[in-house]
Order: sequence, then C-alpha cells, then structure tokens
Amino acid sequence: MVLCKKWIYAKTFTGAPEAGNFTLETEELPDQLKHGEVLCEAVFLSVDPYMRLFPVPVGSVMMGEQVARISKSENTDYPVGTYVKTMDGWKTHTLYSDASKLTKVQDLGDLPKSLALGALGLPGLTAYFGFLEGCCPKSTDTVFVNSAAGAVGMIVGQIAKIKGCKVVGSAGSDEKCKWLKESLGFDEVFNYKTKPLEAALNDHAPNGLDCFFDNVGGEDTTIVIKHMNKYGRTAICGAISQYNKSKGDKGELPYSPILMNLLRVEGIQIMNYVQKWPEGLKQMSQWINEGKIKYKETVTEGFENMVSAFIGLFSGQHVGKAIVKP
Ligand SMILES: NC(=O)c1ccc[n+]([C@@H]2O[C@H](COP(=O)([O-])OP(=O)(O)OC[C@H]3O[C@@H](n4cnc5c(N)ncnc54)[C@H](OP(=O)(O)O)[C@@H]3O)[C@@H](O)[C@H]2O)c1
Repeated sequence: MVLCKKWIYAKTFTGAPEAGNFTLETEELPDQLKHGEVLCEAVFLSVDPYMRLFPVPVGSVMMGEQVARISKSENTDYPVGTYVKTMDGWKTHTLYSDASKLTKVQDLGDLPKSLALGALGLPGLTAYFGFLEGCCPKSTDTVFVNSAAGAVGMIVGQIAKIKGCKVVGSAGSDEKCKWLKESLGFDEVFNYKTKPLEAALNDHAPNGLDCFFDNVGGEDTTIVIKHMNKYGRTAICGAISQYNKSKGDKGELPYSPILMNLLRVEGIQIMNYVQKWPEGLKQMSQWINEGKIKYKETVTEGFENMVSAFIGLFSGQHVGKAIVKP
C-alpha cells in the first residue's frame, strides 16, 4: 500500500493565507498497478501567488504544479524513473490510469529538475514573453521591475540587461537588493520597505522610465506610471500587494499620464503564449547554460511545510523561486 499525503483547501481565505485554511489528509493508493497505469511521486512542488488569487473549491486538493518521478509503471512509454511535470497539486503521490496526459520534463542536462517549475517553467516564461512582448525593450531604455528578487522579477531584470537596458529593481530587504545588484547585475536597486517609492524613483531613475514590469499592483502602479517617459510601455503581470485584500485598491487611476505621455499599458498572461513556449524555453535554456541568466531557489524541505512555504510568499520569506521538496 502506498500512502499519499495531500493538502486540502479547507477554509475560505480571508486576508492573508494562514495555517487554518488547510488540512493535511492521507489516502491509500494500491500497491499493484493495472495495465497502462503509472504512479507518480512528487519530487519538487511549486507554491505560487496565483494559488491565493484563484483558490480551488473548498474541500479540494490545493492546486499547483509539480515535478514528479514515475515510481511504478505498467506503461512502457513511461518507465520507472521518468520525470514528468504535472498539475497534480499539493499531493505526494498520484495514480494515473491514462499516462498520455503526462508531460515529460524537458532534457535539462546538468541543471536541477526543479528549474522546470522556475526559470525554465512558467515563471521564467512569464518573464520572457511578458517582458519582451509586453515592454518591447530597446537598448536605450530604463526598465523598472518590482518584486525583483522573486521568481519572475529576477528573470525580467536579467533579460533587460541582456537587451542592453538600464535596470532598476525593488525588493523587500537589503539582502535581496544586494544580491540583485552584486550577483544579477541590476544597475540600481532599492528596498521598498525602507524607501518611499516616489523618492526612490527620483533617485534611481532621474531621467524617467521607459519600461515598467509590474508584479505588485495597487497604488504603487499609479506612482510608477507617473514616472514613465513618452511612449513608455508597462506590462501588468501581477498585483501581489492586492491578493489578500477583500476590496480593490482606492488608488487614483493614472489616465492623465497614460494619455499625455502616449503610454502603452498591457496585461500579460502566460497562457496566452502557449504556442510559443518551446521557443521561449530554448532561448532561456541557452542563456542559463551560457551563464547569462542566473537563478536562485529557496527550497523548503518537507511536505508538511508546504503551507508555511506558501504563506511565506506574502511576507517576502523567499529569494528567487519558492520550491518545496517533500
Ligand atoms: N500574468 C501571469 O501569467 C503571471 C504568471 C506568473 C506570476 N504572475 C504574477 O507575477 C508576480 C510575481 O510572481 P512570482 O511567482 O515571481 O512570485 P514571487 O515574486 O517569487 O513571490 C512573491 C514576492 O512578492 C513580494 N511581495 C509580497 N507581498 C508584497 C507586497 N504587498 N508588496 C510588494 N511586494 C510583495 C515578496 O518579495 P519582497 O521581499 O520583495 O516583498 C515575495 O517574495 C505575482 O503578482 C504573480 O501573481 C503572473
């Protein structure tokens, strides 16, 4: 008998996620598989901000991506030891009767398989397509990215450097800022928790911004848009500052600067680029293998710590991509 552990979304979120929103349950899975079946065992699980924004129905297993290893197989196309990427959610084991639904993890060479959930997965692709297509960067541009030490932001800043831009990033601790500047090559960084945004942009981007990649949303978005130069381009990727609020932000809508500076403000969604994912993965893999893009992961050990890893997304606990190793 195989014992599967799973986290259930047990109580509706009100405000920030907390331990009481979840319960840990177990389920027995059969030892013997039938013809065609495979058993997947989670190797790396992802926690992401969207899980707060789009919760599953109460009583369901928490949603999410994982890299899993096939640990038992009665399917010759998916032998034991094959690594797959699934949307099985927060659970340690999953039995598949139809393995054709499984996506094999791309060949990552010597790179860790967890990258399929980060720099070479949805966050990396979000940065790649969201920045290149949403911000259309030019080498003379000054770019601002917030939540810059996160899974998406760290990649956006580095792609901007590859494209020759000046890059300004913000993050919520001095350690994160130091890492962005010293290890990733950001030109300017500031800790948004200790320096007001308006003053920081005046200091770090005195000639204004041409591109803004927004992960944070809320009133900050309005402030940044007022610092955009003529023909500036903003990619709205996310609004993590708003996800725990029950009501929308009261911020002023920046119609006037958008109109007067002929700005473009575009929402971007990774699922909009599905057809182009292979192209993005190829380029991102090349940049990573050439050392042009670096990555960082905060790996939380233990399936029982999934909830605290998820909660940590909203307090800035992690640097880079947040991963759980069960
Ligand atoms: N549109 C899409 O298709 C798509 C796809 C993936 C992700 N996203 C969005 O992109 C954004 C980044 O996602 P990610 O996966 O890279 O997450 P992440 O940045 O790795 O993790 C969240 C980080 O957000 C920062 N944060 C939390 N609360 C904040 C607040 N109130 N104000 C400012 N910063 C706050 C924290 O860093 P600090 O220490 O800096 O505070 C935290 O570490 C999110 O808004 C997410 O929803 C969108």
